[in-house]
Amino acid sequence: MQQIGSQLMTAITPKILRIDGSTRHSESVSRALADLAVATLQDQFGVANVTQRDTRSGIGNISSAWRNASLKPNESRSPEDRAVLAQSEALMNEADAADLLLIAVPIYNFSIPAALKSWIDLICRDNVDGARAHDLTGRSINKQALIILTSNYTLANADDDFATPYLKFIMKFIGIDSVTFIDATGLANDQSGILALAQEAVKAHCMDIANTWNKQTAAE
Ligand SMILES: Cc1cc2nc3c(=O)[nH]c(=O)nc-3n(C[C@H](O)[C@H](O)[C@H](O)COP(=O)(O)O)c2cc1C
Repeated sequence: MQQIGSQLMTAITPKILRIDGSTRHSESVSRALADLAVATLQDQFGVANVTQRDTRSGIGNISSAWRNASLKPNESRSPEDRAVLAQSEALMNEADAADLLLIAVPIYNFSIPAALKSWIDLICRDNVDGARAHDLTGRSINKQALIILTSNYTLANADDDFATPYLKFIMKFIGIDSVTFIDATGLANDQSGILALAQEAVKAHCMDIANTWNKQTAAE
């Protein structure tokens, strides 16, 4: 490991896949918190290997052709099937390659934004027939997720929050056991106070992630 000023430069820079669910850009609270997460990690590593999937302008939806192509074994797929699945293939590869999924998600109508759900549909391709839904065993992968959740009134884990339990389940479903939620919900009640706490939580958690990654790199 190399020391650069106050920063540690690892031989292998961990890969971050950032997924933004907000339709807003400049005034988005969830994006600002995700920016802070990236900046904190970047500060620790000197560089950040970040791929960003911004679902703001839509990410496309699955179709009948997509479903049919998904259900075929790889070797039976036609060139047209492969073309239909190409985007999903690319998104799955991005998710596979990442060490950290950083997901910035505002609550929309008590759940997640539709475009984020589309991203999930596109990467969970092996569940198209639903058969995997009851088998969550043996899927653990060496990856963690940091989920930043914002809302105006719906509080995380309250009865009307369907985003948190859904995202928890989906992370487990894709094999990620290490999931941390940053709670920036209920912003209408006390925006500055809630944001200040969320910012501290983001920084503290990203420092923990960086320390773990640095230890792993030093041990390699
Ligand atoms: C379509 C839509 C639906 C929303 N539904 C809810 C909701 O169910 N509960 C809530 O508290 N806030 C709701 N909000 C408000 C957002 O969750 C809140 O403004 C959030 O902080 C936006 O994140 P952003 O600043 O990153 O865009 C909704 C906003 C939009 C655009």
